[in-house]
Amino acid sequence: MAEMNQAGPAFPLTRLRRNRKTKWTRDLTKENFLSPQDLIWPVFVQEGENLEEQVPSMPGVVRYSSDRLVDAVAEAADLGISAVAIFPYLNPDLRDSSGSMATKSDNLVCRAIERVKAQNLNIGIQCDVALDPFTSHGHDGLLNSDGQILNDETVKILCEQALVQANAGCDIISPSDMMDGRVGEIRRALDKNNFDDVQIMSYSAKYASSFYGPFRDALGSTGTLARGSKATYQMDPRNSDEAMREIALDIAEGADMIMIKPGLLYLDIIYRTKQKFGIPTYGYQVSGEYSMIKAAANNDWINLDGCMIESLIAFKRAGANGILTYFALEAARLLKKM
Ligand code: PBG
Repeated sequence: MAEMNQAGPAFPLTRLRRNRKTKWTRDLTKENFLSPQDLIWPVFVQEGENLEEQVPSMPGVVRYSSDRLVDAVAEAADLGISAVAIFPYLNPDLRDSSGSMATKSDNLVCRAIERVKAQNLNIGIQCDVALDPFTSHGHDGLLNSDGQILNDETVKILCEQALVQANAGCDIISPSDMMDGRVGEIRRALDKNNFDDVQIMSYSAKYASSFYGPFRDALGSTGTLARGSKATYQMDPRNSDEAMREIALDIAEGADMIMIKPGLLYLDIIYRTKQKFGIPTYGYQVSGEYSMIKAAANNDWINLDGCMIESLIAFKRAGANGILTYFALEAARLLKKM
């Protein structure tokens, strides 16, 4: 009955189409809103100067040399985008089995952070904590001789990685490795080193997804990972109660913000997270999701602007505070005109 009262009296007294009759009334009665402030832009950085290299499986996405990255981030800040997430493309000869470059204070990603930070832009800088850009095998953690990913040994290295990134000026540390217990250990390491104001956005519910393919191309880890699976640490796509347990643990360990990944296929997880925990919650529209939309649009099979904005508002409707998306710059430019 309460349901009925909410819906209003029956037709013809109630006509829901009345509120949809013109653009202004649709705008006035909207329930959700997408703004550039909701967006986090993932960007790729590589060595060199004055370079922008296309990522073939992600049309429109490039790897920037850090000087070009600075210009791109400045544009993002001007458009009102809240943060950028910087991912390094490491030369293959710098990768090794333990990902040793990850903890070097002068590595590619730390130098990029410093260079962007020096511009004093009004935009947050976020960085993954995980070993995959730095390992020769493409896994997020250390392997033993049987090919198993070592949890506790990896967490120790992740803490060091978080510290060099915080020291370079990273505002938000994002553990994306899915090791158990890493959020608490990283929080303690940061606090012990006077980085108590550095935020943690945990990839809490990160699924072992086939939709990360183009990202692994961008990072150059597709070949190295070969047929290797991340299923012993990333979550099984069949599960959602387990995601609630992952999130509860990360909150207890000190996560400030929670991320769900991939995005559109996991809106049920975003919805449950927001309902259950009421914590700042973010969805990652991953590379495969981006590339599907881009590829179809480039063939004129779908309309890019329409599909892009509709896909992003879906995250907001599910309860996300914000979205990591490769569309961030394009979407923000478009939102400015709308
Ligand atoms: C690294 C990482 C991945 C992504 C973000 N951080 C890939 C992976 O876990 O293999 C995927 C992002 C995307 O597909 O856009 N751990």
